[in-house]
Amino acid sequence: MTISELRAEIAYHNLRYHQQDDPEISDAEYDELVRQLARLEAEHPELGTTESVGAPPSELFTPVVHLTPMMSLDNVTTFEELSAWGKRMERYIDSNVEYICELKMDGLAVSLLYEQGRLTRAATRGDGRVGEDITLNVHQIESAPQQLAGISPPVLEVRGEIFMPVSSFKALNEQQAQQGQRLFANPRNAAAGSLRQKDPAITAGRNLAFFAYQLAHLEGGPTFTHHGQTLDYLKSLGLPINSTTQIVDSLQKVHDFCQHWQVQRHDNDYEIDGVVVKVNDLAQRLELGSTSKAPRWAVAFKFPPEERNTLLKDIMVSIGRSGKATPFAVLEPVFVGGSTVRLATLHNQDQVALKDVRPGDTVIVRKAGDVIPEVVGPVLPKRPADLPAWKFPEQCPECGSHLSRTPGESDTYCSSAHCPKQLEQRIVYFASRGCMDIENLGERTVQLFMSLNLLKDLGDVYSLDYERIQQLEGFGETSVSNLKNGIEASKQRPLANLLCGLGIRHLGAAGSRVLAQAFGHLDRLLEASEDEIANTEGIGNVIARSVCEFFQQPDNRQLVDRLRLSGVNFQGPDRSELPQTLQGLSIVVTGSLQGFSRDGAEEAIKERGGKSPGSVSKKTNAVVLGEAPGAAKINKARELKIPVLNEAEFVHLLETGEILARDGESAVVR
Ligand code: IVH
Repeated sequence: MTISELRAEIAYHNLRYHQQDDPEISDAEYDELVRQLARLEAEHPELGTTESVGAPPSELFTPVVHLTPMMSLDNVTTFEELSAWGKRMERYIDSNVEYICELKMDGLAVSLLYEQGRLTRAATRGDGRVGEDITLNVHQIESAPQQLAGISPPVLEVRGEIFMPVSSFKALNEQQAQQGQRLFANPRNAAAGSLRQKDPAITAGRNLAFFAYQLAHLEGGPTFTHHGQTLDYLKSLGLPINSTTQIVDSLQKVHDFCQHWQVQRHDNDYEIDGVVVKVNDLAQRLELGSTSKAPRWAVAFKFPPEERNTLLKDIMVSIGRSGKATPFAVLEPVFVGGSTVRLATLHNQDQVALKDVRPGDTVIVRKAGDVIPEVVGPVLPKRPADLPAWKFPEQCPECGSHLSRTPGESDTYCSSAHCPKQLEQRIVYFASRGCMDIENLGERTVQLFMSLNLLKDLGDVYSLDYERIQQLEGFGETSVSNLKNGIEASKQRPLANLLCGLGIRHLGAAGSRVLAQAFGHLDRLLEASEDEIANTEGIGNVIARSVCEFFQQPDNRQLVDRLRLSGVNFQGPDRSELPQTLQGLSIVVTGSLQGFSRDGAEEAIKERGGKSPGSVSKKTNAVVLGEAPGAAKINKARELKIPVLNEAEFVHLLETGEILARDGESAVVR
């Protein structure tokens, strides 16, 4: 691409992003284009530089010339680049530099003008020099006060970010879906679309919020020596300042702040896409100055992108153990949010229709934190002409039976009771970790055994023909004996695991535990009426009906008999047998342990009277650390100085209730 083509391309994407609120490429791809241009301009100074970033104001709003231009920031994406920037600051200043670290809000930059304490004008950034007048819309945002508190200066201009909280974004998209309206791709787009409305009443209904991050202009107020003081001042006037902002005295601490928020980026109810690091001392800032585009005294450390564009190669349908037909996207592999994504669920027929994604589309793929990858939507300008819409199949791709959908429900099911895929998935689930936990009976082995008729249904698990299995390729004496031992051991699993493994619709691990505890034996549950089950604390009508219906079916009764004959444990727990050593304690487990399955460890805690929530908080008494633990949990434990236990210490805790303390500081992030 030539430099002018590149400039035109960037201008086009600026327009789509800033003016049409409908970006065609991801932020990461846009940043890459800007970097390419910066490189070319540095190599060829004779071709000039690009002055404006952003987009000229649209005709929808009155133009506003900013009192001082709204600059953008230089970006860095690695810790090396960040520390190179810091070292440049320190070399130039030739003394210690104090930094102020702020979260980089992922919203829209705005400039608010207060005259005699009243909000008289609000403007978007536009191209940095001229923005758009959005005063009436900003009047609808509660956290952008219309009147400053305290003694107001005659003139004050403040810059900050308008954003949509993640919870509001989710609620808005749910509402859009219900009304069959276009979904917003992310909170930033939703905020932009809600703010740049001709009708402020629409903005009013969208729950936008504001954080101030820069005092741009002040007449008749106090004077300041540091940025931190200006933020305190803004706060004293009632402007919202992000409370995570931190002043630090070394590059190492800047690094720690960035690292911390990169891991915890989803902890807040707003999206951030990086950290802005600024020199705190205002005199030093003057000394450092600015380039034509951005100040030298600040830099944006951008987190790795969580959204990328890729090709949607196909949409396929998978059949689950209950017969549920789930559409999923087959993608051109794309590295996003820290891993390569090839497949992503599309949930159900309505979701595909609502997103209107079609095989052949370029789609936005999002993978945020621990959340499963998601197809956000198509990039419409890239859609090839005449690309047909995708139709949900009418037949089960596995057995050819009719796929049916109950009116009013969103899921589609394979109607056959003998669909081989359903049977296979039921067995795989029965043998999986939270259920009977049969180590060597994974999906591949189940598929192989089914193809050879060694397994026809769930009941066959305990009557496998091991002699025949030993003849199979890849099955030596050791692996057969491991399989046999695993299957034997599973007969002693707690009743709750068995109940869960039966795959009764609506009954999950928690409900199974409640039923096992309440009824104490499978036979008592078999005899119970629907009312009796529904009267159990923690069990609702839907589960009760489903459990009852399950055990009324002759096939399932037969299955129970076969399991009984095989010697599978039907006996439930007896609480009085275990000493309640963990009464009142809250213990979080992260990573995998040698002697416990994940659920097993949590079960052991609960059986002894303790609690085992999924995340670390101030109320957590200890964190048990296994192999490959979650970084977020360790960091939180460290921050809150919560004792961290290894497996041996965990066993000691279970037996005695005693926490052999090593505080969170000694935890190692692997
Ligand atoms: S300071 C001259 N601080 O990031 C300094 N910007 O290109 C100007 N942003 O769209 C910006 N959070 O709206 C600053 N704490 C923060 C920020 C922040 C988000 C946005 C800003 C602009 C982009 C910088």
